[in-house]
Parts: sequence; structure tokens; C-alpha cells
Amino acid sequence: MKRIQDFKVAGYTWLNRDSYLIELESEQDLPGIAPGNFAEIKVPGNPGVFLRRPFSIFDVDYDYRVLSIFIKIIGEGTRALGSLNQGQPVSLIYPLGNTFSIPEKGPVLIIAGGSGMAPFLLLGKKLKERSVNATYLLGGRTSEDLHMIETFSDYGQVFASTEDGSAGTQGVVTDHEVLKDKTLPFRMIYTCGPDPMMKAVARLARQRNIPCEASLEHMMACGFGACLCCVTETAEGKNVCVCTEGPVFNVKNLAWQI
Ligand SMILES: Cc1cc2nc3c(=O)[nH]c(=O)nc-3n(C[C@H](O)[C@H](O)[C@H](O)COP(=O)(O)OP(=O)(O)OC[C@H]3O[C@@H](n4cnc5c(N)ncnc54)[C@H](O)[C@@H]3O)c2cc1C
Ligand code: FES
Repeated sequence: MKRIQDFKVAGYTWLNRDSYLIELESEQDLPGIAPGNFAEIKVPGNPGVFLRRPFSIFDVDYDYRVLSIFIKIIGEGTRALGSLNQGQPVSLIYPLGNTFSIPEKGPVLIIAGGSGMAPFLLLGKKLKERSVNATYLLGGRTSEDLHMIETFSDYGQVFASTEDGSAGTQGVVTDHEVLKDKTLPFRMIYTCGPDPMMKAVARLARQRNIPCEASLEHMMACGFGACLCCVTETAEGKNVCVCTEGPVFNVKNLAWQI
């Protein structure tokens, strides 16, 4: 059930010049959070950033009532959230959105591009809890776009690729060796990242007859179905809000030309 809750900044872990994890702690208990859920965060003390900004929930510690959010700086809001003082209050509306479906049996493949890895730590934890084997394929333009590979490797085998070859295999993530096997054994493919990458993943999944779920990162304002600024078209020609019907969609239900 979504709620508005005040948190305080507990600390930051900077991953490189423009990406960080922000830890937010609350005095109240946290509700159950499912992989794929996101939060609408109000950027405090910054009238120039009026609308809340949506972010996947990267990790949760229910005992200490702490949420971790991965943030890549791309504009004013993401920059401002990276320079708050410890203890500063931050308001969240969360948990929003739906979750990934988990097959009864694995293995499954998770393909993320850059910041698209954000929903996949909680997913990896859930898969491990259900004894479903996961393989991660994490891609980026350069090594600067790959984060916390060791953390992910606690939840599955991790392969990495970068377009410039500065880490992992050189090339785009959808050309990785792991995907060359014509008899890909995976029961499900999950993806999040830039649209062209997710569409390439969806195409591959369709060719191999593997179900595929994508987490869409459309522009959002309200986060709960009121402003209609986040619509996407379904395969049936309906317009649906990504914030309430998603952000996770089975790609066969989307009007993607793939
Ligand atoms: C469900 C969901 C989950 C997300 N999870 C994460 C996450 O875990 N970590 C993370 O770093 N980011 C995540 N994002 C993206 C994040 O919301 C945006 O980066 C953030 O809102 C940008 O705010 P800003 O004020 O810094 O930039 P703005 O000033 O709002 O925008 C800067 C530029 O980026 C463009 N832009 C803004 N948002 C998006 C978007 N969603 N897609 C494409 N272009 C955009 C704007 O048009 C503008 O050109 C998520 C988005 C959604 C919808
Ligand atoms: S963000 Fe307002 S309707 Fe989806």
C-alpha cells in the first residue's frame, strides 16, 4: 500500500563522479517492497525542482528501516539529491508500481544497461530466496557505467560488457557471448535500460521463445495515475500509465515494433 513517509539522509556512497547510492532512514517501519517498485522522491530545499522524481528502490534493510537508492546525475534533481546534509529530511511516496513475475524454476537471465541495473538487486534477492538461478548481463558504454558487480555476484553469475572494451567483453550488451547459444536455457529474461537495448532484448527473447519482462523508465510526474504523462501503448492499442500498470511489462503486451 503506497504511503507518504519522511526519511532522513543517513549517508552516501559515491560510485563515480556522477553516480551514487543514497541511504535514507526512517523512524517508522517500512512496508513490504517488491522488486521493481519505485519511489517518488521530493527534492528538498530546491524550488526549481518542483515535481517529485521517480527512482527504483535499489535495496531495503527492514531491521534498520533504511532504503538505498541508486542515482545517476542527469539534471538538477539528481544533482541536488546528491548534495544533501546527513540528517536532512526527504519525503517519499512509495512503494509504487508493480513487480516482476518469478517462474517456478530457473534459470533466468537479467540484462541491464547502465543505470538499468537499479531494480535488479532486489530481484536477485527474491530469486535466490525462491532458489531460482540467475545470470546477470550488465552492459555500459564504458567501465564508468558498470556498478557494484561484486554485490550482484552474491545473487547470480555476472557477465559484463562495455562498448569501448574498458571492462568485460567489448561490444553492446545484446552481442554478448552468453546470448550466442541458440538453445538459451533461460525460463525468463528481465531487462531494464535504454529503450533500443530493451527492444533488442525483447526481439531476442521472441526469437528464442522466452518470456521477457521489461521495466520502463518513462518520464513521470505524479507517479500514481493522475497526470497521464507516462503513458505507453499496449499491443491491443490501449494507452496505459507506466506508473500504475507498470513499470514492469511483459514485452508481448507492448506495442513495440520489434
Ligand atoms: C520507474 C522509474 C525508475 C527509475 N529509476 C531510476 C534509478 O533507480 N536510478 C536513476 O538514476 N534514475 C532512475 N530513473 C530515472 C530518473 O527518474 C531520472 O533520471 C530523474 O527523474 C531525472 O531528474 P533530474 O531532475 O535530474 O533531471 P531533469 O532535469 O528532469 O531531466 C534532465 C534531462 O533528462 C531527461 N529525462 C528525465 N527523466 C528521464 C527519463 N525517465 N527517461 C529519459 N530521459 C529523462 C529530461 O528530458 C531532460 O532532458 C527512473 C525513472 C523511472 C520512471
Ligand atoms: S506519472 Fe502521472 S500518471 Fe503516471
